[in-house]
Amino acid sequence: MSEKNPLGLKKIHHVEFYVGNAKQAEFYYRKAFGFSQAAYSGLETGNRETTSYLLRQNRVNFVLTTPLNPDHPAAEHIKQHGDGVRDIAFQVEDADHAFNEAVKRGATAIIEPRDLSDDNGRVRHAAIATYGDTIHSFYSYSDGKVSTNGNGSGAGYEYKGTFLPGFVPQEIAGEEVGIQLVDHIVGNVELGKMNFWCDFYRDVLGFFRYITFDDKDISTEYSALMSIVMSDGGHNIKFPINEPAESKKGKSQIQEYIDFYRSAGAQHIALLCKDIRQTVTKLQENGVEFLTVPDTYYEEMPDRVGDIDEDIPSLKKLGILVDRDEEGYLLQIFTKPVEDRPTVFYEILQRKGCKGFGKGNFKALFVSIEEEQRRRGNL
Ligand code: FE2
Repeated sequence: MSEKNPLGLKKIHHVEFYVGNAKQAEFYYRKAFGFSQAAYSGLETGNRETTSYLLRQNRVNFVLTTPLNPDHPAAEHIKQHGDGVRDIAFQVEDADHAFNEAVKRGATAIIEPRDLSDDNGRVRHAAIATYGDTIHSFYSYSDGKVSTNGNGSGAGYEYKGTFLPGFVPQEIAGEEVGIQLVDHIVGNVELGKMNFWCDFYRDVLGFFRYITFDDKDISTEYSALMSIVMSDGGHNIKFPINEPAESKKGKSQIQEYIDFYRSAGAQHIALLCKDIRQTVTKLQENGVEFLTVPDTYYEEMPDRVGDIDEDIPSLKKLGILVDRDEEGYLLQIFTKPVEDRPTVFYEILQRKGCKGFGKGNFKALFVSIEEEQRRRGNL
């Protein structure tokens, strides 16, 4: 990171989902999204509490966890929220430092620093709360690629296993679709709470305000929302925070999410790829469902975005959207929610210089989202 982060955050280590049936969710992410199963933890490995699968595609690590009994906290999480993101976990320089500093700065402690170990070594782990029932874990260890700085608990924490202690390698290859990296993860928070959570990311995690969108940027008849993008100093980690805005009529899509998730939570994960047309072609062949926009969107595109490398008919055929800022352009497309509740969905994104989030597409997208909301009886 270009600017020193006060918690010593390095990167997103993984995203953990609590799901009702991890075995079936694993199949979906492998067959539809092209992840490979890389590691497993469950009854066969001595884990009597949960079953977890690690799914990996290039630098994206998703953990799918299901509880094995009704008393495990994951059972309550699923009861309240349905399938959803529990943990946006960071790799940090030193988990003790990250945890102590975060708590000193006002974070709520969830897991006090502790060792996790198996035959492959040990890691240091702690966790704090963020919006809703979502948490941020901190993991520190030397994985051979990053050198520990020799101070704090980073020293002596070496881990040589596939993922984390408790997981055994279990490889079931998926057909990768070209997903490379998590670009950003959006949090939906309750009306009036956006600034609170932006201040949390500023004061506790040392993030900066990167971009602000207000309801003038992103308001249709129904789907008004406000959004502030928070980013770490190096712009490696970007967390937009959305709140519903009062709409002229009907219900904001953010409020629909909160009603069905029953709290604030992670709304979408944007996955970066290098060739979006190839990636989206494969995802569509695999049955992933995307939002579509009217044909008029593509008629207006040349005037709005100017010259781009891709031919417009190929983008139109796939439903890919384009937006431009001063530095370049981006291509993006959004899936429909991937569970029965209208909650978590994915964005597939390719950046060609543009560091924005697709502001020019909000209007077209929200009209499309509202159509889906209307069909669900939630507008
Ligand atoms: Fe996004």
